[in-house]
Amino acid sequence: MSVVDRAITIAELRRLALRRLPRFVGDYLEGGAGDGGGVTRNVDAFRKYRLIPRALVEPTPIDTTVELFGRRYASLFGISAVGLAGIYRRHADELLAEAARAADIPFILSGASTASIKTVCRIAPDHTWYQLYGAHRPEVTESMMARARDAGVKVLVYTVDYPVAPRSEVVGRTGVSMAQGPSPRTFPRLFVDALRHPFWTADYLRSGGLPKLESWSPYAPAGSNAREVAAYYVQNWSNAQTWRDLDRVRAFWQGPLVVKGLVHGDDVTRAVQAGADAVTISNHGGNKLDCMQATLDALAQIKPSTNGKVRLLFNGGIRRGSDLIVAKALGADFCFTGRATIYGVAAGGLRGAKRAIDILQSDLTYTMAMIGQRSAAAITQDCLALDQA
Ligand SMILES: Cc1cc2nc3c(=O)[nH]c(=O)nc-3n(C[C@H](O)[C@H](O)[C@H](O)COP(=O)(O)O)c2cc1C
Repeated sequence: MSVVDRAITIAELRRLALRRLPRFVGDYLEGGAGDGGGVTRNVDAFRKYRLIPRALVEPTPIDTTVELFGRRYASLFGISAVGLAGIYRRHADELLAEAARAADIPFILSGASTASIKTVCRIAPDHTWYQLYGAHRPEVTESMMARARDAGVKVLVYTVDYPVAPRSEVVGRTGVSMAQGPSPRTFPRLFVDALRHPFWTADYLRSGGLPKLESWSPYAPAGSNAREVAAYYVQNWSNAQTWRDLDRVRAFWQGPLVVKGLVHGDDVTRAVQAGADAVTISNHGGNKLDCMQATLDALAQIKPSTNGKVRLLFNGGIRRGSDLIVAKALGADFCFTGRATIYGVAAGGLRGAKRAIDILQSDLTYTMAMIGQRSAAAITQDCLALDQA
């Protein structure tokens, strides 16, 4: 039995992951925008809620399946897009896709992925969704969507929550830029950091150093190495997406379209008017602005104004199976993990990714039995109490 198999909580997988990762990589994963307050606020928001156990209810069978875009998935959650995932563990995108397929849950490949859409679709043809980051040149954005479509992707997730480049004080302090590499003044510190984390360092060096952003590689000048592709991505990724861009994406993409990164009711209404099939309430895991409300609070505020007219997907701060129930009860139709599954894959590769999913799934079924809810799809606010303390 490996060490990840013995982990029984996501918090333990997190500890294992951060032990394996050099500080400057761990900071990138954990950091968040500004001083990182948004990351902890997302997690803490769940602790305000209590679940109400019910008595004398037949505890089995528990049905965690949920229908989404004409397909039934095995659980209430999937794996969200995380860019540059290969930095945490070589081939992390591929491993997460494989774990998602095995668990029969969706996997969203990041628009800044270190695996190509084609590769990931080959691994998990029925479970891969693609997350789009718009490019400055509309023809590049269209080409990315065409690649996803041709690879067999059914669901497109358009992330719209970064009007300007993100700023993290924690990451800023590490002095490491993906596009430019480390600055000379940081070399000694990074060298010691790398030596202290030999498993990560050996994996990194053995597999050729910085992983290439495969989703952008086809557009960078021919023969570009990983650093040059990263530089191309930084220059050509367009933060400044507008409602006009959403119209263009909607006109191009014929399948289900999810707009990811909304936290205001008016934006949800407008996205639905523009033809979105679902929206994801998300603040990018606290990575965009440290002083914003938790996504769980945004969900609770937005849900009543939607009148059930749009499917609400949710992410931000999910670390336990019971968190999935709270989000569902507050109106999420489906949830996604970000860091929780990255901790798993970073700590233990495929086994770790599967372990993270198992931990959430077993906690979900246990908690559903405790509160007398046999169907995930039927969970409502009735099972919730607000903590009075
Ligand atoms: C290191 C990191 C990189 C991320 N990269 C992307 C990305 O490429 N595209 C995207 O839409 N969201 C990205 N996200 C946001 C996640 O999809 C998700 O919204 C967030 O992680 C959920 O919060 P959680 O980590 O607390 O679960 C990233 C998040 C993290 C932590």
